[in-house]
Amino acid sequence: MSSVGSMTKDGLLANVATFDEYRASGGGNGVVATTALGSEATIREVEQSGLRGRGGGGFPTGRKWRAVRDAGGSRRFVVVNGAEGEPGTFKDRAIMRANPYQVIEGVAVAALAVGASDVYFAIKASFTREIERVAQAAADMAAAGLLGDLSFTIARGPDEYLFGEEKAMLEVIEGNDPLPRVLPPYLHGLFATMPQPGWDAHASVNDIDTGTGTGTGTDGSNPTLVNNVETLAHVASILDRGASWFRSRGTPRSPGTMVFTVVGDVARPCVAELEMGTPLRVLVEDVGGGTASGRPVKMVCSGVANAVLPGDRLDVPMHFDALANAGGGLGSGGFVVYGDDVCALAVAHAYSNFLWVESCGQCPACKLGSGAITAALADLEARGDADQLAVLQRALATVTDGSRCGLPAEEQKVVGSLLRRFPEDVVAHEEGDGRHCALGHDVIVPKVVDLEDGAVTYDLRQQYKRPDWTYAEPAA
Ligand SMILES: Cc1cc2nc3c(=O)[nH]c(=O)nc-3n(C[C@H](O)[C@H](O)[C@H](O)COP(=O)(O)O)c2cc1C
Ligand code: SF4
Repeated sequence: MSSVGSMTKDGLLANVATFDEYRASGGGNGVVATTALGSEATIREVEQSGLRGRGGGGFPTGRKWRAVRDAGGSRRFVVVNGAEGEPGTFKDRAIMRANPYQVIEGVAVAALAVGASDVYFAIKASFTREIERVAQAAADMAAAGLLGDLSFTIARGPDEYLFGEEKAMLEVIEGNDPLPRVLPPYLHGLFATMPQPGWDAHASVNDIDTGTGTGTGTDGSNPTLVNNVETLAHVASILDRGASWFRSRGTPRSPGTMVFTVVGDVARPCVAELEMGTPLRVLVEDVGGGTASGRPVKMVCSGVANAVLPGDRLDVPMHFDALANAGGGLGSGGFVVYGDDVCALAVAHAYSNFLWVESCGQCPACKLGSGAITAALADLEARGDADQLAVLQRALATVTDGSRCGLPAEEQKVVGSLLRRFPEDVVAHEEGDGRHCALGHDVIVPKVVDLEDGAVTYDLRQQYKRPDWTYAEPAA
């Protein structure tokens, strides 16, 4: 196990300050192996490793690479997803701070495998420390010839939650707001010239580069690979040490390690690399030190994207299938712990408000539905208005209708599960004017802006964000 700030020699969180240190520890061997293997054998190695995306969905990485490589089009791109916007998660930033070289090497491997000429490293402009590390690592690796002819660009994005959604991320790279487009990146990639439903064709880098001004016609879909920072960090060592080395840890369907985050009511908020399949209890109690409040664990939320896990499920192994079977989800491995002194209805209200505010409004059922859910929860919490339960039931069933992206499905899962798992907290509000519930209601969404040496800082500005993405002035 390694954690941020520790000086372990191995693992994704091992501190590597310079390119020379990286080279001395075997860094660069993955690119060399890929160059020798070629595209097909590289993709096969990643498929055989069983690596699954660490950005939240757990999609098999090798399968995604193959789809992008085989999607046709005259030009392909690789995008690194460094947005890290999921509340309760800090692992990508920890990896970029500790060792950005392994991420850049993973990018180079991916680009060779899918046949991409250009890489965009998409990262929030506010992540200044990580941008500096990534830029230095890319420059060092290019100077050493490890990036070949790849064009490498850092694309700075906004703090909005949707920036991390892959179809919104491509829009941001093209200079637009983070509004998810319709088709997935392998069908409608960066600077695509091929007309797509719900999108207008415009001049593209294909035109600029060829100098013809005519575009590339029907093959201009520019299939684009979007991978999470941690996913790519695993790739370098898979190519260096082989698929069976990667499979020697973790479980058959969730091999390898994962960098987990634990925050909320824990004595030691931190980031730690653990084998897939490690019980959640190890993260919460051994790594996180148990609750800081000394209260029993009431529930653990993996960000705002999955169903809540009650405190009596701490022995669940942390891998994709087990968490899903337990009614939750692994997500991006960030866990927020709550003690039994916190009201689940207040957590549902805070999370729903976050998702409503962050929804972009392109799909009416998402923006209106999440607004209705947030308002109903506020009413139920403040006034114990039981009529709101019917509103909640209706809106939770339809909030995902016609959605372009996964945000409203998160609303459905997290809010629905909190109400289902903790009906007593709802009843406590129904019995009177809300104040009959004796539990804590002062809940903020744990959007982590820094996490180091056991100290976590949350984005307190988020609570003043409005649904049109402006900010209200905090009360004096
Ligand atoms: C609302 C929303 C926000 C997301 N935010 C992030 C994010 O901050 N970082 C990330 O890697 N993936 C995020 N994702 C998932 C990405 O869309 C995409 O699936 C991921 O980058 C794929 O990488 P992977 O295959 O390596 O996991 C988000 C998805 C949704 C629906
Ligand atoms: S589902 Fe919601 S967040 Fe996603 S594109 Fe539609 S309105 Fe925007």
